[in-house]
Amino acid sequence: MYGFRSLKLSLRFVLPLVAALGLLAFAVVPLVDRLTLRWSVRDMDMRSRLITSTLQEPLLEMLPQNDRQKITKLLQRATQDERLLAVGFCNQEQKLVYRTPAFPADISCGSIRDDSEKTLHLVNLPQGPVHVSVNTIEENGTQIGSLVLVHDMSYMVRRSADTRKYVILLFIVLGVVVSMITVFVAHLSWHGWMEGVRAMLRGEGIVKPFAQPAVASELQPLVSDLKTLMRSLDAERRMADDSTITWSPDTLRKLLHKQLTGEKIIVVSNREPYIHSKVDGEIQVHRPASGLVTAVEPVMRACSGTWIAHGGGDADRETVDAGDRVMVPPSKPEYNLRRIWLTKEEEKGYYYGFSNEGLWPLCHIAHVRPTFRTSDWEQYVKINQRFADAVVTEADSDNPVVLVQDYHFALLPGMIRKLLPKATIITFWHIPWPNPESFGICPWREELLKGMLGSTILGFHTPYHCKNFLETVDRYLETRIEHESSTVSRRGQLTLVESYPISIQWPPPWQGTLPPAEQTRSEILAALGLPPDHLLGIGVDRMDYTKGILERFNAVERMLELHPELVGRFTFIQIAAPSRSALEEYQAFEARLHALEERINQRFTTNDHPAIILKAEHHEPDQVTRYYRAAQVCMVTSLHDGMNLVAKEYVAARDDERGVLVLSQFTGAANELYEALIVNPYHVEQTAEALYEGLTMPEYEQQERMRSMRTQVRDFNVYRWAGRMLLDAARVRQREKLAVRIAQN
Ligand code: G6P
Repeated sequence: MYGFRSLKLSLRFVLPLVAALGLLAFAVVPLVDRLTLRWSVRDMDMRSRLITSTLQEPLLEMLPQNDRQKITKLLQRATQDERLLAVGFCNQEQKLVYRTPAFPADISCGSIRDDSEKTLHLVNLPQGPVHVSVNTIEENGTQIGSLVLVHDMSYMVRRSADTRKYVILLFIVLGVVVSMITVFVAHLSWHGWMEGVRAMLRGEGIVKPFAQPAVASELQPLVSDLKTLMRSLDAERRMADDSTITWSPDTLRKLLHKQLTGEKIIVVSNREPYIHSKVDGEIQVHRPASGLVTAVEPVMRACSGTWIAHGGGDADRETVDAGDRVMVPPSKPEYNLRRIWLTKEEEKGYYYGFSNEGLWPLCHIAHVRPTFRTSDWEQYVKINQRFADAVVTEADSDNPVVLVQDYHFALLPGMIRKLLPKATIITFWHIPWPNPESFGICPWREELLKGMLGSTILGFHTPYHCKNFLETVDRYLETRIEHESSTVSRRGQLTLVESYPISIQWPPPWQGTLPPAEQTRSEILAALGLPPDHLLGIGVDRMDYTKGILERFNAVERMLELHPELVGRFTFIQIAAPSRSALEEYQAFEARLHALEERINQRFTTNDHPAIILKAEHHEPDQVTRYYRAAQVCMVTSLHDGMNLVAKEYVAARDDERGVLVLSQFTGAANELYEALIVNPYHVEQTAEALYEGLTMPEYEQQERMRSMRTQVRDFNVYRWAGRMLLDAARVRQREKLAVRIAQN
């Protein structure tokens, strides 16, 4: 089979080559023929002139004597040259007065008179082709006649046939030699290529970051493409495998048990999943508005273990044990929450300063300048170290599985790696990663990158963020990057950089416990003092300038301008949970938002039905779900967002398969929820029209879109997100173990 394939490959090269050479020979043979003829005729011509000048003198002496016998003899002697067939002498009157016996009868002085100036003259006679040359005989400048020399040219025909034969032979030899070389080279290349492909199929191409190239360098681009293809096929295969199982807390638990060392994992994040605070002297617990918490909490409940986070609630200290731990969720304790305490100064530097005035705007292209201060950086380093020490305290083995969350802890993976070299560290970056130029603004860029590369796996929401990260590493650090396997190696530490689009719990925790959506809508409308057929839009965000809330309000205003029939019939409810409000930027943002709401409401409030209701306060998840279920349209208009889980929560909340999602193209979610109305939030008219389209969309279309989005969120739920990372981590661990064993042998 291989022989036949390689023969086919060779023929593919050889056949066009032979065809080209044949064509060339076909064109070259007549050309060579013509050239040799021209050279021969030129030779004949020179010979004729030479013979004429030899005969001229004796002829001039003999002509006056008119001695025919003597003159003919002289001419006859000249024809002893084998090629000179005949000689004749024409007088002034163009009469052939003397001639040798073989002089052809077809040639007369008159017949060649017109061409007498020509030196070349070829004539085809019955006995064969001849060259006829006419040369003037002069005496003291006076022409007294001309000598006609007839050369036999039949040798030319023979020579031409010979030349043709040799040229064709030359081309055949050339064809054979070139074909042999081509076939030989093609064989070698084919062989090398096959070897390379086979090496890849043996698994060396998928993740073998330090392998020497197995094939010739000129074939590397092809091999690279193949590797990329293999990786995507591998990923697709995994996805297909994954999709055959429904990802649930149980699958995650089993996976952890089977593929990794134990069942317990350690999660590290800044924001804690449950905050204890005192309200009117009573301790209350609430869930913060955070995409991170929304996603990671169900994973943690499934896997159990310990979640280490900043204890920020004013009753947090009162609710922990001596080891600063408290079991959560409070209603059904499933895992440990280990709280880390920060002083006001530490929080100011590490959280407000470096994390939220530096890294947050740095990674979000939302037109707010990052601020970097050395004092903030110092706190950031210090607090990262404090969390690293806490990880060591909480770990019950020397190779724990640690899930590091977000930009508050870029240094943490490196610090944990130093303390627990065998740990499996999975870091997930919940926000976008900018391009190298933007990231280069950070004065501590190298330190941050080195810290992150302490991870076993580094996850981002989208392949685009991964690409940006790899380019940033390439720009600022000495590392070895394998783009095909998406790995970075630095000082013997290998990090897999991969995209893991985050998601939410499915089925949602309230599934089957809520009243029908219609009923919820009626209740909410009644509570707001709005008529039963009033249309509702909803937005749910933290009060943050990256969320595009101002742009959203502008779009609401524009929609009412363009469609005045909806004035007084539509209200947009914006839930904006207070966030980072100690920062000036956030205070200014909140003030602008309130001012805009006021201005729009002044223009469009009719019958006490406001255009916008801004609820700038915390809402618990069940309250938010009620609003989702009541609203005809949900607007997510982030200017830049890693994923945005509000979009997925809205979809999950609509078990009635109604409602329309308007979604910013600058969110990670836009890569998954194609049936949303995708908008550019910077384009006010476009966003306004999408809102209108959502409010007036026929029910069957709402249903089709919503059903499809619900399937996506169901299949790609948060257990799958965590499961894929854990599976990849298990693979990397196995590969590392194997590498150690190979190195020891
Ligand atoms: C974003 C970040 C999270 C953070 C959340 C809330 O989603 O990626 O890490 O928890 O915002 O922000 P906050 O500063 O209030 O914790």
